[in-house]
Amino acid sequence: MVFPIQIPNDAPFNAEQRAWLNDFLTKALTQEGKQTNPSNSSVPVTVVYGSQTGTAESIAKKLVKTLKKGNFEPEIHDMATYDRSRLAAEKNLLVITSTYGDGEPPDTATDLHAWLMSDAAPRLEGVSYSVLALGDSSYPDYCKCGIEFDTRLLALGANRIFSRVDVDVDPDAPYAEWSAGILSMLAPSSAGIPASEPESADAVEAGYSKTNPFRASVVQNYNLNGPGEKQTHQIALSLEGSDLSYEVGDALGVYPLNPAAVVDEIIANLPFKPSIVPAPDGGEVTLREALIQHYDIGSLNKSVIQKWQAKSGSPFLRSLVAADDKKAYDDFCWGRDLIDLVIDHPADFADAEDFVANLKKLQPRLYSIASSPRAHLGEVHLCVGIVRYDSYGRKRGGICSTFLADRVSLEMAPRVYVHSNTAFRLPASGDTDVIMCGPGTGIAPFRAFLEDRKATAAKGKNWLFFGNPHRATDYLYQDEIEGYIADGTLAKFDVAWSRDQKEKLYVQHLMVQNGAELWTWLNHGAAFYVCGDASRMAKDVDQALHQVAEDHGKLTSAEAAAFISQLKKEKRYLRDVY
Ligand SMILES: Cc1cc2nc3c(=O)[nH]c(=O)nc-3n(C[C@H](O)[C@H](O)[C@H](O)COP(=O)(O)OP(=O)(O)OC[C@H]3O[C@@H](n4cnc5c(N)ncnc54)[C@H](O)[C@@H]3O)c2cc1C
Ligand SMILES: NC(=O)c1ccc[n+]([C@@H]2O[C@H](COP(=O)([O-])OP(=O)(O)OC[C@H]3O[C@@H](n4cnc5c(N)ncnc54)[C@H](OP(=O)(O)O)[C@@H]3O)[C@@H](O)[C@H]2O)c1
Ligand SMILES: Cc1cc2nc3c(=O)[nH]c(=O)nc-3n(C[C@H](O)[C@H](O)[C@H](O)COP(=O)(O)O)c2cc1C
Repeated sequence: MVFPIQIPNDAPFNAEQRAWLNDFLTKALTQEGKQTNPSNSSVPVTVVYGSQTGTAESIAKKLVKTLKKGNFEPEIHDMATYDRSRLAAEKNLLVITSTYGDGEPPDTATDLHAWLMSDAAPRLEGVSYSVLALGDSSYPDYCKCGIEFDTRLLALGANRIFSRVDVDVDPDAPYAEWSAGILSMLAPSSAGIPASEPESADAVEAGYSKTNPFRASVVQNYNLNGPGEKQTHQIALSLEGSDLSYEVGDALGVYPLNPAAVVDEIIANLPFKPSIVPAPDGGEVTLREALIQHYDIGSLNKSVIQKWQAKSGSPFLRSLVAADDKKAYDDFCWGRDLIDLVIDHPADFADAEDFVANLKKLQPRLYSIASSPRAHLGEVHLCVGIVRYDSYGRKRGGICSTFLADRVSLEMAPRVYVHSNTAFRLPASGDTDVIMCGPGTGIAPFRAFLEDRKATAAKGKNWLFFGNPHRATDYLYQDEIEGYIADGTLAKFDVAWSRDQKEKLYVQHLMVQNGAELWTWLNHGAAFYVCGDASRMAKDVDQALHQVAEDHGKLTSAEAAAFISQLKKEKRYLRDVY
């Protein structure tokens, strides 16, 4: 029999704990458990999630699906629309949230997070809770938002029924640990979930998925830029032979391969003989294959440096780790890769197995889908900025973007999966006006939106803000855009060629210049979308939106903030930023 949740072998439990938990789940999640529930009254559980690109949301939905099969009364709420006045009255609260930006809450969690951290937050003595924190340990503020929710709920008097679990990119094992833990605390008097389907945090549906990616053949791969600094590839992949489908707003996950030349250079500089090593997901492979396909040999971060330093006699690394200074780590890591550690700071690994044990698993990259399935049946298109730079005497490149640009045709077809992003969808009604702000590769989902709006003959107006350095070389999808202007699909197009004049011109400057009209569109119910660079552009665009609301809506800054917060709640201000 397969139970809804089973503790995977790589979850952080010893054999005894795993056996106990699996036994517990067997009882708790079957009719046997149901018979032990004397009152048989259902247990109320409120699941709230904060999600930027849909992972926390899909985990929350999966958990609720499982709870519904038992003697629970689960409710699910997006943090953006959760009625916070009911927080103090919750019996069992399960918080699932990612962290974005530089340790910030996802957009949908901003308001609830700010309120909870403020003096306005109520005492929560009657609330039992637990937190699942999604993140990525390559960021300095690992899982910060989840940690803050956890700490604050506890400080407000809530009762933590199971320790927070932090998810480092791969949710399966930690989700199993956390869900088993919370069920063990919630279920004793109320078990009874019928065993039904195998579950993991990622959708394990029949067919291709993140855990079972599809090998898609490349049908188009060309540079959209003219000769110059930038290289942005239009990449079309065939989905023929797969059961994959997608909606505009979704992203495509791509599993890259590391460049063989760099792998060979690493191996040539290691102080031991290459041998067979374990792959991160099981099985054994040659060291070369492991470094090409399975382990991250790209950018460095604090945790890689710490592990490396423990095996290296490098005085420099020792002082870097001892100082534990964020800026010093950032300065060292920027522009360096694993090869720099191998050559400049050799470490004393016992053998190849010991060496790979210090490396992180190579992760897939997400790309906003740049096509509508209505316009390109059986295909998925991407708009990929190719990362290339010179540093410390070496020509370097981003692992996945150079894989797509340079290596896919020489090596095998890329392994891909669809990453659903329900948080970035066109308005339900085609009559709603849409404003899209997507400089650089941020144009990707808006190409898909425009194709979709045209294919569905949507009556709402479309306004696109685009920006890139030079009109002559960087006008991505120029023919298509001009076609949309000519046929009326684009009611308005404003473009910021940032380097075609003395002063920089950016999309947010054009938003402010067009402030009166922008305000009118928003007041008539338009949805505002942003895609592209998170660290600078999306922040400046957000500020410009506040300014437009203040200048043209005659609002105070507090009123403008409330207006924009309301737009988010109504899902009329959506961002796909990275
Ligand atoms: C939801 C989502 C959607 C996305 N959509 C798109 C999209 O549509 N198009 C797109 O192009 N990207 C998109 N991205 C970004 C994409 O996933 C990758 O992050 C991007 O392609 C870079 O990956 P890479 O493997 O090529 O680079 P990596 O190997 O990950 O290397 C990037 C790293 O290289 C280093 N680096 C980069 N430039 C320099 C420099 N000049 N000097 C020194 N060091 C440097 C930095 O450490 C940087 O973090 C999206 C990301 C997300 C999360
Ligand atoms: N966080 C990330 O990992 C991240 C974020 C974005 C892009 N990228 C990667 O970088 C590569 C190229 O990116 P891209 O093509 O999307 O271009 P981009 O670097 O985002 O630039 C697009 C346009 O935005 C302008 N810009 C710069 N700062 C801005 C600001 N504060 N506000 C508004 N506009 C601003 C640029 O002008 P100037 O250049 O003239 O200043 C340029 O005209 C891709 O590989 C992409 O994946 C990575
Ligand atoms: C632009 C960007 C910034 C991120 N910043 C952080 C961060 O500061 N700390 C962290 O732990 N994870 C960070 N992450 C990782 C996300 O939290 C992680 O991918 C998570 O699974 C996303 O979940 P979601 O799809 O529900 O938003 C970041 C991811 C992206 C793309």
